[in-house]
Amino acid sequence: MRIGITETVLRDAQQSQMATRMPLSDFQDILPVLDQVGYESLECWGGATFDSCLRFLNEDPWERLRKIKEACPNTKLQMLLRGQNLLGYKPYPEDVVREFVRLSIKNGIDVIRIFDALNDLRNIKITIEETRKHEAEAQVAICYTTSPVHNIENYVQLVKDIENMGASSIAIKDMAGVITPHEVFELVSALKETTKLPLHIHTHSTTGMGFMSLLKAVEAGADVIDTAISSFSGGTSQPATETMVFALEQLGYQTGINIKKMAEVDHFFLPLHQQYVKSGLISPYVLGTRTDALNYKVPGGMLSNLISQLKDLNAIDRFKEVLEEVPLVRKDLGYPPLVTPMSQIVGVQATQNVLSGKRYQNVSKEIVSYLNGEYGMAPGEINPDLQKEILGDQEPITYHFANKLENGLDAGKEKIGALARSEEDVLSYIMFPQIAKRFFKKRKKIEKNTVQYTIEEWEEK
Ligand code: CO
Repeated sequence: MRIGITETVLRDAQQSQMATRMPLSDFQDILPVLDQVGYESLECWGGATFDSCLRFLNEDPWERLRKIKEACPNTKLQMLLRGQNLLGYKPYPEDVVREFVRLSIKNGIDVIRIFDALNDLRNIKITIEETRKHEAEAQVAICYTTSPVHNIENYVQLVKDIENMGASSIAIKDMAGVITPHEVFELVSALKETTKLPLHIHTHSTTGMGFMSLLKAVEAGADVIDTAISSFSGGTSQPATETMVFALEQLGYQTGINIKKMAEVDHFFLPLHQQYVKSGLISPYVLGTRTDALNYKVPGGMLSNLISQLKDLNAIDRFKEVLEEVPLVRKDLGYPPLVTPMSQIVGVQATQNVLSGKRYQNVSKEIVSYLNGEYGMAPGEINPDLQKEILGDQEPITYHFANKLENGLDAGKEKIGALARSEEDVLSYIMFPQIAKRFFKKRKKIEKNTVQYTIEEWEEK
């Protein structure tokens, strides 16, 4: 039996270990080799990569994508998309969503893995349609989480609905690395009876379950697994590619991986990884096994965010209290899976609840929008007292919020004007207005002068 391997080093692995700060120039030379390994797909683009290119790396994310495509013509390029929220943190109008999908495919993406933080399928409908229209693969990911309102029957129903919407394949997205070998075996077995669509498994090594869970998923019939080349594997990243390939091949599965090329990839990335650890870009903390997530159900990325948030606030001694507040906030909100943007929204609220001394005394704008139904339907029941306290007499909406948004493309184009040089620039601007604008200005200055500059010089005051 054939098992496909999706390599995550260019996206999730570096996102999970080093906050997506790897510049194209650091990995460009290995791209032709990555193209020869024989991966099912190469995950290389997504919300954090896009944001980080513009914000920190002074790179045009579209240009990065085109360069990867040019060097990897034989391997499917994969991106992660937050459904109606695209690469951002709030829903965008339909015209923007469609244009973004079209341009992503035009610039080189072959597989769009689409998810919605609430598994509300209204938020992914247009992206599936548009992806299929441009003949790319629309892979829909269900966000895996455990709670009193999540069970196998829900997931089975969800997958039936996703198939009916026209998805090309299904992924189980376990962003927290909490799925256990037993749970994944049961879930994959049930889903294989539900659908003929290829089934992909995405997990993290954070809690140490990763290798075991991937193997059990394969035994239950999963078709493709996500892994990271060993030098960038483990901890908050994915289980190691090589380890899974060797284990699976010996068990009689074919991965189609060229072992020699795979080793070459690892030998390229190992010194880079060591360099990032030395410079502090990679903290040893994210490389170990952390089992707190099994108790608190908090994804690795969210843990490190909470830590840095509390450090900034000089309140790291409250970490344990905040960690214990997270599941309580999550319960109040009807058990949303903790994935972007819900992980940020819940994390900030839990921090506020602990630090201010009175729960929900301060709430973010996002919490108000969430309680108003703007992000979609909560998986479980929202605490009615909280909803009433925050919304007052206002009834939460039941329609699909994005349907009422005005078209955004023309307005965006007009607002950014000549600073945007392409359709792609306009999309960068619509999704990340300030940082895209700052990047466009910098780009102009850099081209005019070949003199050396510091980033700070071109920062907007
Ligand atoms: Co992930």
